[in-house]
Amino acid sequence: MLALQSPTGCIITTKLIYTDTLSTMVYLAGFVVLLLFLTAEARVGNSSESTFCTETKECLLYDLVCKGDNYEVRHYSSAKWVTTDEESYFMDKAIYTAFMRLFKYINGSNNADVNIDMTAPVIIKVNEMKNMWQQSVYTLSFLLPSEHQLNPPQPTDEKVYFTDMPDMNVYVRSYGGYILCLTAKFNSMALQKQLDKVQATYNKDYSYSVGYNSPMKILNRHNEVWYVVEGEPVCPASS
Ligand SMILES: *[C@@H]1O[C@H](CO)[C@@H](O)[C@H](O)[C@H]1NC(C)=O
Repeated sequence: MLALQSPTGCIITTKLIYTDTLSTMVYLAGFVVLLLFLTAEARVGNSSESTFCTETKECLLYDLVCKGDNYEVRHYSSAKWVTTDEESYFMDKAIYTAFMRLFKYINGSNNADVNIDMTAPVIIKVNEMKNMWQQSVYTLSFLLPSEHQLNPPQPTDEKVYFTDMPDMNVYVRSYGGYILCLTAKFNSMALQKQLDKVQATYNKDYSYSVGYNSPMKILNRHNEVWYVVEGEPVCPASS
C-alpha cells in the first residue's frame, strides 16, 4: 500500500516547489526584517533553550522522555495553534498555499490588525491513509506566541481557525534538508519501521511533518516527523 503512494506526484511538483520556494523567500525576507522590530515575552518558550530552534524568538519546548539512535520520545504540554486546511494531490503545493494563508493572519489579517511573531516549529498534519488517486487534506499550523496563547486575535479569513493541541507524548525522528513530499515520506516510513520493530503503539492515521527553518537557511536545517504515542511510550533500545 505504502509503495503505491504517489512518488510520481512528488516528482511532478518539483518545478512548482522551486517557484514557490523562491516567492516564499521574497516574502520571508521582508518578514525577517519585520521580526527584528518585534518583541515578545517568552511563555511558550525561549528559543535560547533549544539547540535547533534558533530562528524565532519563541519555540515550542518539551520534556525529553528518552532518546536513542533511531528515535526519541518527547512530552509536550497543551498549546494553542493557528491552523488551516488545504486539499491537494500534491503535498508541496498544499503546504505553500496553507503557509501563505497563515502568514497573512500573522501579518495583520486579523480583527486586531496586529502583527504576530513567527514562532517555531511549523507543523503539518499528514493523512497517512491517502491513496494515490485521492486528494489529501494537509493541515498546517503555526504556534501562537506566548502573548497570544490565551486570547489570539480573530482571523479575518474563514479558512483560518484555532487548534488546541492536547498534552501528548510523541515519537520523533529528525532529519536535515528541506521538507518535500519524498523526504517527508521517506522519514515517516523509516520511523514507522523503527517503532514497529520495538512494538510501540502509536496513531497510524496521521503523522506530523515538523519544520524549524525558513527557506533562506541553507545549512544545518532541522526537520522532524512525529507520531503520537498511544499508551505507554516505548523507549529506544539504545537509550
Ligand atoms: C504583509 O503586510 C504588509 C503591510 O500590510 C503588506 O505590505 C505585505 O504585502 C504583507 N505580506 C504578505 C505576504 O501578505
